[in-house]
Amino acid sequence: MKVLVLGSGAREHSIAWKLKQSNHDIFLHPGNAGTIKLGFCNLGQVSDKEQIALEAKRKNIETIIIGPEALLAQDYASYFRKMGFLVLGPGKEGAQLETSKIFAKQFMVRAGVPTAQYAIHSSLQDFKRDIDIRPFPKVLKLDGLAAGKGVVIAKDSAHALIFAEQVWNQNIFGKGHHQVIEEEFISGVELSYLGLCDGTSFIPLSSSTDFKRVFDHDKGPNTGGMGAISPSPHLNAELEARIKKTIVKPILEALEREKLEFHGVLYIGIMISPEGNPYVLEFNTRFGDPETQSLMMRIESDLLPALVATAKGKLNSTPPLAWKKETAIYVVAASPGYPEKPELGEPISGIDSQTGETELFFAGVELKNNKLHTSGGRVLGVGALGRDASEARKKAYFRLQKISWPGIHFRTDIGIT
Ligand code: AMP
Ligand code: GLY
Repeated sequence: MKVLVLGSGAREHSIAWKLKQSNHDIFLHPGNAGTIKLGFCNLGQVSDKEQIALEAKRKNIETIIIGPEALLAQDYASYFRKMGFLVLGPGKEGAQLETSKIFAKQFMVRAGVPTAQYAIHSSLQDFKRDIDIRPFPKVLKLDGLAAGKGVVIAKDSAHALIFAEQVWNQNIFGKGHHQVIEEEFISGVELSYLGLCDGTSFIPLSSSTDFKRVFDHDKGPNTGGMGAISPSPHLNAELEARIKKTIVKPILEALEREKLEFHGVLYIGIMISPEGNPYVLEFNTRFGDPETQSLMMRIESDLLPALVATAKGKLNSTPPLAWKKETAIYVVAASPGYPEKPELGEPISGIDSQTGETELFFAGVELKNNKLHTSGGRVLGVGALGRDASEARKKAYFRLQKISWPGIHFRTDIGIT
């Protein structure tokens, strides 16, 4: 079967890599200079959904997997479905679970899943008036997609006001009507619980934990993700049973009750409190990045039949995926200055050295003078499997140490929790 994976990051590279292992005919569009160098074909100079659909039809592609949330927000999924493709990804209604934090929160409350208490602010005036009603620290989240930059944990009212000024006065997220959601702060450890979901069934994609801060020991600002481990060290069978019962089941019931179309990956971001109770922090309606890179390394079965079953709404008759017992570690290497102001354009060396048992996934790279150069904050990443986290870490870092560019930066504690 011919499959199109849409996106240009390491997440999409890892999905295409996994599908190619089962000998499917894969197009990765637009991909990046690294994936093209590795032989993944894209669709050429096309970018809007009409052109993509036309080109995909011409190439007899049947299935489309949508990587980035921005495309889901623009309703690419509904359009491709209308054009007769099998599509992994919800239409823009279902994607609101990610694109609007307020929609997501209200859905969680209607579904009855455990989540932090919240309030909504629609103006700076409102915000200032109510700022001290609930205790600090608290979490402030911009409603809408903000590429991971729209969330702050405010220690006190001065800190909260800085964020509010940025939103409503300095317009750092653009002009227009903004809403901010204020949440009770929940301490604990985080777990990314992803699953294939067709609106009535949910097949978990094992579990993972990502490392969001830029520096070791969770220091520095939040990033898109500096690495991941799978399975998550924070999950055990008892907790998973509880998540299925108190979170996944009510979500499926609410999707059905509210007739919210969903055929894609539902990513449930969970905080496990020190008492061991799971709380839903957020939803994404797509594969997570970098969690996916660690998950792809661990899937034993051909992934495509399960993706097709999700697109067709037939997940309930799909056998569960088989998973490797090993632990996967994925370490991101970034440009200097990432995430605030990455410095780009540096030549990359060491990517051709073979060390075995590791995989390289490309993201922010471009070709100049026939050589790969850095062109994004997160440049590439290395995935490795091991009997345990320590063995996987050894392999991943051994490989990564051979790769370099001026100012290369990566965390050295990925997988240590
Ligand atoms: P979100 O985009 O909603 O997942 O938020 C980004 C990050 O902020 C999460 O991964 C958590 O690390 C943190 N966070 C979000 N909500 C809360 C909360 N209610 N309590 C504590 N930390 C949170
Ligand atoms: N790793 C978090 C995300 O994909 O948004």
